[in-house]
Amino acid sequence: RYAYVNGRFVPHTDAVVHVEDRGYQFADGVYEVVTIVGGRLVDEQGHLDRLTRSLNELRIAWPVSPRVLKILMRRLIGLNRVTQGTIYLQITRGVAPRDFKFPKHVESSLVLITKRAGAFATPAQLQDGVKVITIPDIRWLRRDIKSVSLLPQVLGKQQAVEAGAFEAWQVDPDGNVTEGCSSNAWIVTSDGTLVTRYANNLILNGVTRLSILKLAQESGIRFEERPFSVEEAYAAREAFVSSASTFVMPVTRIDDRTVGDGKPGALSGKLRHGYLDYAR
Ligand code: PDD
Repeated sequence: RYAYVNGRFVPHTDAVVHVEDRGYQFADGVYEVVTIVGGRLVDEQGHLDRLTRSLNELRIAWPVSPRVLKILMRRLIGLNRVTQGTIYLQITRGVAPRDFKFPKHVESSLVLITKRAGAFATPAQLQDGVKVITIPDIRWLRRDIKSVSLLPQVLGKQQAVEAGAFEAWQVDPDGNVTEGCSSNAWIVTSDGTLVTRYANNLILNGVTRLSILKLAQESGIRFEERPFSVEEAYAAREAFVSSASTFVMPVTRIDDRTVGDGKPGALSGKLRHGYLDYAR
């Protein structure tokens, strides 16, 4: 199994970066996770568009052109013979002696790692749905940038796991859900309207989120992009989370409340299948 590190394909065990990489010292970098289905990258252009945006916002230079990046990703997927899984790509501002301000004349670092996945969800998760807990959103105010600074999400996810939950929904000071630690949050109201928060600086605009919205539009599903409160989520008919690695994952418990009838909802199922068809 190989990884790509700054110009070279190297065995995974030897894939190392310099101790003065700014990603390591300052979390001064961005990343993407792209799903691989049937050996192909799902929503590749959407991820590259968001990567472009993240790099521009942080004024980090492209380590290679987007065209070359696409070639490198394909080469690594081929080398590792990944037909199903994910590819992680990370770009940091580069290697320089530790100093907060931007270093001059450094090249940004690029790392690519693949991961195989037998399945994107377990049968039990799809049959029964998963639990989420709610926690205060303690992150910075540029959550629209897919930065590698993920400590609040690491702590949130650990708290979720310790509570027997799959994900933690982060909640803003007004009591509205922003998003999960590594996924976007959705509900279906009692009148059948699909609801997810609109994308501004307070959430990451998921590539899967955008594809689901497009799917909803094409299928004539009524949807609203607006914040929803934890109370509204408790009372929802359905709930689910979306991300590249989980697609659409049904949520049947929020904190200690049961969502709807406690079974994965019909609309969630329809969207999961719709998105899987689109991915294939
Ligand atoms: N996480 N919100 C946050 C905070 C995320 O970290 C992610 C993705 C999403 C969903 O975005 P997308 O649909 O483009 O995957 C929303 C990735 C999968 C991760 O960190 O592993």
